[in-house]
Amino acid sequence: MNDTPHVVAVSGSLRDESTTRTALAPVLAAAELEGATTELIDLRDYDLPLYGSDGRDAGDAPELRRRIREADAVVLGSPIYHGTIASPLKTALDYCGFDEFENTLVGIVVTAGGRFPTPAILHLRTAARWVRAWVHPTHVGIPDASDHVDPGEGVDDEYADRLEDLGADVARYAAIGRLPELREQAEADPITSD
Ligand SMILES: Cc1cc2nc3c(=O)[nH]c(=O)nc-3n(C[C@H](O)[C@H](O)[C@H](O)COP(=O)(O)O)c2cc1C
Repeated sequence: MNDTPHVVAVSGSLRDESTTRTALAPVLAAAELEGATTELIDLRDYDLPLYGSDGRDAGDAPELRRRIREADAVVLGSPIYHGTIASPLKTALDYCGFDEFENTLVGIVVTAGGRFPTPAILHLRTAARWVRAWVHPTHVGIPDASDHVDPGEGVDDEYADRLEDLGADVARYAAIGRLPELREQAEADPITSD
């Protein structure tokens, strides 16, 4: 990692009028204010066949992996579908693994049409831990998403604040997985002042 953290958000909804993609914008804006470089991975732009149908390097999978490997922190955004995460995001995650996520900080944002985004948050948290990511302790779940998020207008104040807090935090703590390595470097090359 350079001194500048790189934060990538992945939107798991392919809908043009996606509340999830809209909710990721304030996350990335706040990460930038905190000094990070950012990128939104919009899965509409990636050719990703269902995993297993054509090998690990099918379609744009190598490019997706490259971009996620470059990130110090990854914010995973998904709508809840039938109590769990949306299939486009699951497919994207299936093309990735330890190489992309180990020592990477992960933030989670879930939107729901109903009142309970929590199951998908917990499933994303589990999937991220399974590939050895560091999952940020707080997440943002947006129930009744269409009442709070308008793809034209953005996110209302209630949730914009929480999304911005998450974005600032993932930028601040992006180096968390590399702390032992950074400490070793500092010990090997101490900065002395006299
Ligand atoms: C196949 C499908 C399943 C859904 N399942 C749930 C659900 O279990 N619980 C819920 O609250 N909303 C459910 N929804 C609604 C979406 O979570 C909600 O509309 C979400 O904000 C859509 O995100 P998007 O605007 O980013 O596409 C479902 C929608 C679809 C299309």
